[in-house]
Formats: sequence, structure tokens, C-alpha cells
Amino acid sequence: MDFTVPALPYAKDALSPAMGAETLEYHYEKHHKGYMAKLKAALEGKPEASKTLEEVVRTSSGGVFNNAAQVWNHTFWWNSLKPGGGGAPPAGDVGDLIQGLGGWEKFRADWIEAGNNRFASGWVWLVLSGGKGKIITTPNAETPLTTDDVPLLTTDVWEHAYYLDHRNNRNAFLEVVCDKLLNWDFVAKNLAAAK
Ligand code: FE2
Repeated sequence: MDFTVPALPYAKDALSPAMGAETLEYHYEKHHKGYMAKLKAALEGKPEASKTLEEVVRTSSGGVFNNAAQVWNHTFWWNSLKPGGGGAPPAGDVGDLIQGLGGWEKFRADWIEAGNNRFASGWVWLVLSGGKGKIITTPNAETPLTTDDVPLLTTDVWEHAYYLDHRNNRNAFLEVVCDKLLNWDFVAKNLAAAK
């Protein structure tokens, strides 16, 4: 494994004002890279270091799992956002998938509710489960990568994801993610790869 976090897919100020540059600075530079630094410290020089990140996530436990999964989840999170994103998905495969979940307005309400109801730290996911779209949440570092579900989109609901922009208002963060940031192109790419 290359113990390097992928570059952000946009500039740190590119999501502003929906998500401020200071959030990206801390969340990417300190949190995301911090998980990778701890993973590197735990695995470097050991046989597991020759595995891919995905293999480590799927086969580890404890602290190694937590750091590896958080590295993978965060890369997925940055790709789940884009400047000028959010709002209803475009027609086509992604539009059909969201329609299958009751349409954009229902998806938006369910995504926000799922995020608000995830106690403490965790993640909201859109996954392909048995060929159908499904919203799930996971606690802490848990990830659908360890299951048969195919992850398509995520939102990080750890407090560090929104505190600088919204203080303790997770609901306001989830609304702005839905309305201004969700990257449907990434969902389309993941959906196409799953077929
Ligand atoms: Fe995070």
C-alpha cells in the first residue's frame, strides 16, 4: 500500500460557502491524513503493508481497522461532494435509482433524518443492496466495504465534519450537503462500475 492520502478532487475553497475552506483544511489535512499517519505507523514494515487499503479494511480489526476504514471512508466522502452539486439528481440511472427510493424530496428528507439519527459519530451511505438503492448508516469507522452492499455515496456525520461551519447544528450541515454539494456524477460512476 502507498501510505499516501489521495489529493482532494477540488481546491479547499471550492466548496465555499456551502463548506468553508477551514473545514477542508482541518478535516482533510488533520483528520484524514491523521488516520493515514496512524495506519502507516501500525503497518509499515509488516506483511500487511503489501495489501491494498481495501484488503486491509476487509481483513483487519481494532485500531488498524479503524484507521484504515477511516482513510477509505474519507476518500469516498471527498468524492461524494463537488462544487455546485446537490439538488435533484439528473435523469438516467441515478435519477431512476433515487426515484426507486421515493424521489428526490423523499430521499433528501430520509438522508437528513438518517444523519440526524446516527447517534454520536458515523456515516450515512447510499448503497446498492441486492440491486436496489438503500440508505443506511454506520457507527464510527464502520463501512459498507466490509459487506455485500456496494457504496455509492456517503456523508460524514462526525462532529469534525460540520462544527466549524455549523457548530452543533448537524441538521443544517445535512441540508447544505443535500442542496449544494452531493456529487451525482460520483454515484453514476459507482453505479456503472457495479453493473
Ligand atoms: Fe471525518
